[in-house]
Amino acid sequence: MSASANTARLKEQFDAGLETRADFTIDQPLERYGAVDHAVWQQLYARQTALLEGRVCDEFLAGLERIGMPATHVPSFDDINAKLTPATGWRIVAVPGLVPDQVFFEHLANRRFPVTWWMRRPDQLDYLQEPDCFHDLFGHVPLLIQPIFADYMHAYGRAALAANDAGALPLLARLYWYTVEFGLIRDAASPNGVKIYGAGIVSSKGETLYSQQSAAPNRLGFELERVMRTRYRIDTFQKSYFVIDDFEQLFGVAQTDFAPLLTKLAKAPAFAAGDVLDSDRVITRGSREGWQDDGDV
Ligand SMILES: [Fe+2]
Repeated sequence: MSASANTARLKEQFDAGLETRADFTIDQPLERYGAVDHAVWQQLYARQTALLEGRVCDEFLAGLERIGMPATHVPSFDDINAKLTPATGWRIVAVPGLVPDQVFFEHLANRRFPVTWWMRRPDQLDYLQEPDCFHDLFGHVPLLIQPIFADYMHAYGRAALAANDAGALPLLARLYWYTVEFGLIRDAASPNGVKIYGAGIVSSKGETLYSQQSAAPNRLGFELERVMRTRYRIDTFQKSYFVIDDFEQLFGVAQTDFAPLLTKLAKAPAFAAGDVLDSDRVITRGSREGWQDDGDV
């Protein structure tokens, strides 16, 4: 969550006359979506739903259907909340873009998921550095209607708030990255024994194919401390993915008492994004093809 990108984006929104509240939320400016925005949504929605069939976990597809995500236009956030809130108590709130960490976690800890209101441009279908409406809404919200994942996100928000106060946020940021954004889940019948559930993957054509099918990355069994010590990539596909057995495993993670764990890990050295350890449960060991040597964050 880059402060400079955030500042630039906020300035753009202020200049556009959108009123931003102290918690960085705005009213979704529905009247500002034009034909191009709806066309981009329609194109991305059609492309990803076709690609995800058989590749994404069943819970995601069920959530997409239950929410009634529209295929042809940018959704009204109120319409989404009409389905989401009665199911799990979560609601989405419109924001101008990336919000400060503390604000983001306060939203999660109160079962609010911030969704960027604006859509990417037609020349950004394949790659966008910061999250837009399609990533935030299509990528994240279908699983928020699943109670077990909804509870995980809530517990995560509370833990991250506490970690932020304790200056231990990088440890929790890695957990979010390797589960909520780039998580894989076991599925014996699928290529490499995995299906997809992370939002950063489901909203990306390239990473949908790469994460499940490429020989390049490591696919390792999820282990909490291991994940919290592992650096990651923000500029390329991941070198390693961590694979949960099922969503009950994430629910177990949500029950963790993080305070002693953060203390324990505070001085533990971090692992590189591409490391494979003797203690890892290796599902596939990456060929390392196309990996760049530096750039882990
Ligand atoms: Fe995201």
